[in-house]
Amino acid sequence: MKSLRYNLIVLLFLGLGGLIPLSDTNFLCGADPTDGFTYVPLTEANYVIQKPYDIPVEQRYSYVNGTHKFWVYADDKAHDPGSLTQPRTELRVTGLDYSSGVWQFEGHAFVPNGTSGQTIVQIHGAAHGNTTILLRIFEGNMRYYSSDIVAKNLYDKWFRLNLIHDVNKGKLKVFIDGKFKFHIHDQGPGDLYFKCGVYAAPRNISYYMESRWRDIKLYKML
Ligand SMILES: *[C@@H]1O[C@H](CO)[C@@H](O)[C@H](O)[C@H]1NC(C)=O
Ligand SMILES: *[C@@H]1O[C@H](CO)[C@@H](O)[C@H](O)[C@H]1NC(C)=O
Ligand SMILES: *[C@@H]1O[C@H](CO)[C@@H](O)[C@H](O)[C@H]1NC(C)=O
Ligand SMILES: *[C@@H]1O[C@H](CO)[C@@H](O)[C@H](O)[C@H]1NC(C)=O
Repeated sequence: MKSLRYNLIVLLFLGLGGLIPLSDTNFLCGADPTDGFTYVPLTEANYVIQKPYDIPVEQRYSYVNGTHKFWVYADDKAHDPGSLTQPRTELRVTGLDYSSGVWQFEGHAFVPNGTSGQTIVQIHGAAHGNTTILLRIFEGNMRYYSSDIVAKNLYDKWFRLNLIHDVNKGKLKVFIDGKFKFHIHDQGPGDLYFKCGVYAAPRNISYYMESRWRDIKLYKML
């Protein structure tokens, strides 16, 4: 009797595992996107702030009480005089570039209502193109580049973002507040690194763009 019940439980468990995609098991067992990952310590030496080249960093970035605040205007200059890219104020994680393995970026973000069209987090580098993923906020919704909706109604509240990149499998996963939201293939391996802050999209941008970040962390699967 006992072993029958045990077998039924095992069968039920295997059955659920077969039916429900791995990422959704978070709901079932209270799992966290960082489960199985190892924390990679970051220090200030791992932070490079990129900002419009012709103005001091204090005019586009502050770090107060654990909160990084990034802002930029639509008519700001690029981060480098030779660059034709859109304006940005971004924290580039340096010294931890990767080209293989499974990496995870985590941070708590806040985007104020009235600001729109900014990439708030990205993985720079790819075999095809310059970036692996950009996550942009348009009208409070998060989009993959300017296309697929990743999450809705994110204005004026802190949310936790986890971005997992499995380079060997070429897979990306996005979690908001611990819940799986989006997955897609990457664009091939390259010299890869994480960035967060504000980087203006080519179109549909507000004049003023902002994001705030706390508790920025990196993890790696060993
Ligand atoms: C600093 O941040 C903490 C939360 O981490 C908050 O409780 C506190 O009110 C903040 N202090 C100021 C001066 O903003
Ligand atoms: C954002 O602001 C606009 C204009 O003030 C308002 O209509 C809208 O409801 C706000 N959205 C959120 C999510 O607060
Ligand atoms: C990649 O970036 C370079 C330099 O910023 C730019 O000239 C080029 O057009 C970009 N390529 C793509 C595919 O966006
Ligand atoms: C950008 O603006 C155009 C024109 O207003 C609109 O059709 C399009 O849906 C917008 N795209 C995004 C990503 O908001």
